[in-house]
Amino acid sequence: MWHAHPCLITCTRDYRNELIAAECEALTGGRPNAWGIANGSTDQVLDGAFVKQGVQVLARADGLEQLVSRVAELGLHQDEFRIEWLAAGGPEDRRVATTAIADQIQGRPNLNDPEHRFLLVAEAGGMAFGSVVVEASRDYRKHDRKPCHTPSSLPLRLARCLVNLVPRDVESIADPCCGTGSILLEAAAIGLQARGGDWNPRMVAMSRQNPDRISTPSVTRFSSAVPTHVMGLT
Ligand SMILES: C[S@@+](CC[C@H](N)C(=O)[O-])C[C@H]1O[C@@H](n2cnc3c(N)ncnc32)[C@H](O)[C@@H]1O
Repeated sequence: MWHAHPCLITCTRDYRNELIAAECEALTGGRPNAWGIANGSTDQVLDGAFVKQGVQVLARADGLEQLVSRVAELGLHQDEFRIEWLAAGGPEDRRVATTAIADQIQGRPNLNDPEHRFLLVAEAGGMAFGSVVVEASRDYRKHDRKPCHTPSSLPLRLARCLVNLVPRDVESIADPCCGTGSILLEAAAIGLQARGGDWNPRMVAMSRQNPDRISTPSVTRFSSAVPTHVMGLT
């Protein structure tokens, strides 16, 4: 199967960021290494905030020469392709390596507007070549046009990352300090029922201007000592 598990997953590269690692693990089952590469499932890459691509590995080798002959054996035919490069500690030169691999593919490259992307990974212990089968849709960007933002609104990419940490068997979430509703928007975008409250009526009014598939937030004062359902959070 084309989307077989495990595939290579690529993430925004920042190995110090536990949040990115946690998102990758939640969405794909794999933890990224220092280069932002994990082995995992591609099924939920589409929703990713910092998870970027799912790649079906087509060939692996100890070095470039061996990889070139393995890719040649695949007999790939692909028009309008681009080979992307991920330097992960390997010694190879980007231009030399991508050109050598591109020469083994029958078809026209298109670097500016490719119909298909391949990924070439140069690691210290070897190289991998694969086909990008899914990319994160980055659909949280469309919420940049949400009606209201304040300096305290969570950036939408961060909000998407946070809701991606919600276990997949959970159906609804509540944000008791919803502000202008970034979390609510992103939760709804990945199919969660989202409820919100905020003690500031101005915030609630702004959050209510978001698309109406999100439950109308209410003015609610959250106290950590009182469960939100007791407070009538809707
Ligand atoms: C950082 S903003 C929230 C960001 C928001 N979760 C989002 O998705 O963009 C913090 C919000 O918490 C609200 N807040 C702070 N303390 C609260 C409390 N005890 N009960 C309810 N809301 C509270 C503030 O009015 C503010 O709108």
